Amino acid sequence: MKPSDSTLFTTFNHPKLTLNNRIIMAPMTRNYSPSNAPGDDVAAYYRRRTEGGVGLIITEGTTVNHKAANGYPGVPCIHGKAALAGWKKVVDGVHEAGGKIIPQLWHTGTARRLGTEPNPEVPGFGPSGIAKAGGKKVAHEMSIEDIKEVVDSFAQAAKDAEQVGFDGVEIHGAHGYLIDQFFWEGTNQRTDEYGGSLQNRLRFGVEIIKAIRAAVAPSFAIVFRYSQWKLQDYTARLVESPEDLEKFLSPLVEAGVDIFHCSTRRFWEPEFEGSDLNLAGWTKKLTGLPTITVGSVGLDVSFINEETHGMDTVAAPTKIDGLIERMDNDEFDLVAVGRAILVDPEWPNKIKEERYDDIKSFDKKALYTLS
Ligand code: PHB
Repeated sequence: MKPSDSTLFTTFNHPKLTLNNRIIMAPMTRNYSPSNAPGDDVAAYYRRRTEGGVGLIITEGTTVNHKAANGYPGVPCIHGKAALAGWKKVVDGVHEAGGKIIPQLWHTGTARRLGTEPNPEVPGFGPSGIAKAGGKKVAHEMSIEDIKEVVDSFAQAAKDAEQVGFDGVEIHGAHGYLIDQFFWEGTNQRTDEYGGSLQNRLRFGVEIIKAIRAAVAPSFAIVFRYSQWKLQDYTARLVESPEDLEKFLSPLVEAGVDIFHCSTRRFWEPEFEGSDLNLAGWTKKLTGLPTITVGSVGLDVSFINEETHGMDTVAAPTKIDGLIERMDNDEFDLVAVGRAILVDPEWPNKIKEERYDDIKSFDKKALYTLS
């Protein structure tokens, strides 16, 4: 099937989010907002991706208004006059170019990039203060009051995002950051109502979704990103079977999620034995909601080298016939593309026009420029 004749380049019609096509720019940390407010260079960077043909942009993680939300340098926040004015320019640019954009709301939890903390006085925050399974205590163990504060900060961020003109929000519940630290037994050893059973470990995420749902218009889309894998442990799993996945997803659906973004490192890998469905495929089948797949789309080497833990791996472009076939078969609805679009803003247009020889390879230079 030619890409231009496939589902990939058809409209996505959702009552809360209409997109020109099914290609999404995946959220990627860029560290180009030194004062935590996105500048004109960031606005131009996102606008170029819309001009290059993506239907939706999910921004880099942008941190909510909590003292320990931002553990990394140069990450934009989503509170305060300067940052919100910066985001408004980003949003307006994308809209002028005919695209849609949602911010990824983020709290990094216990994660801190050592030596470069925005505020070394503030430790990381987490459900049990440990950053990985079996690890020692490196961060503050959150009190019930801390939990309420963070829930409120997510709701306020969503409200501000709506005000600024974003087309929805994505909640970052993946990769071993704060929300996922509550989900994952490896980092959640609490004995109160936020720890122990799956239902208890889900509580923090559920409260955040509900608080956002109550803070924004019913027509404002909520995307929820989750993953089995953690940056601390690629082999970690939250659930081992479709039955358990359903138990994990149902409370999130009931709380108000509209679309799930199912993060895997390689989208073609089956999630459970006995079926070819990937995580996005299972999530769609179990919830009936639209899903986004992601994971090394269009490239031959996956995100972060397993041995060096570096993101500087060179990756060559690949054709995407397998992805197109799976989307045409309705396994998932949307695809998020990260590094291929980071290095080549024109990736969607080039795929549509089958200009495969023009597509750029990914290498580490792309990480250290904002072009
Ligand atoms: C990163 O900055 O390396 C990073 C941030 C957010 C993610 C994954 C990786 O979800």
